[in-house]
Amino acid sequence: MVLKNIGPAENFPVGKGTCIEVEGKRYAVFNTTGQYYAIDDACPHAGGFFSDGNMTGTTAYCPLHGASVDVRTGVCGPPSAADVETYDVSCDSTDLFLHVD
Ligand code: FES
Repeated sequence: MVLKNIGPAENFPVGKGTCIEVEGKRYAVFNTTGQYYAIDDACPHAGGFFSDGNMTGTTAYCPLHGASVDVRTGVCGPPSAADVETYDVSCDSTDLFLHVD
């Protein structure tokens, strides 16, 4: 497990997804009132970017065809037939760290 510094927490606004790239791979990081979650930023249905969609509570929506994803678990709703990976995010006093293999 490697911790990647993904920048200041202030760059990740509440109630919104933010795309980050680590070594060429996209991740969507979500701030749900101070709790941070990260998932693969590619909808299993047809590759939409979850980081570009809307969000309600801990549910984000694919902007292409509306699949939901629980950002805590990675479980997706239809039309996605599969789920996405989740990643832990930790925070020190200022920065966020993505936990990747
Ligand atoms: S690409 Fe996400 S619902 Fe179709």
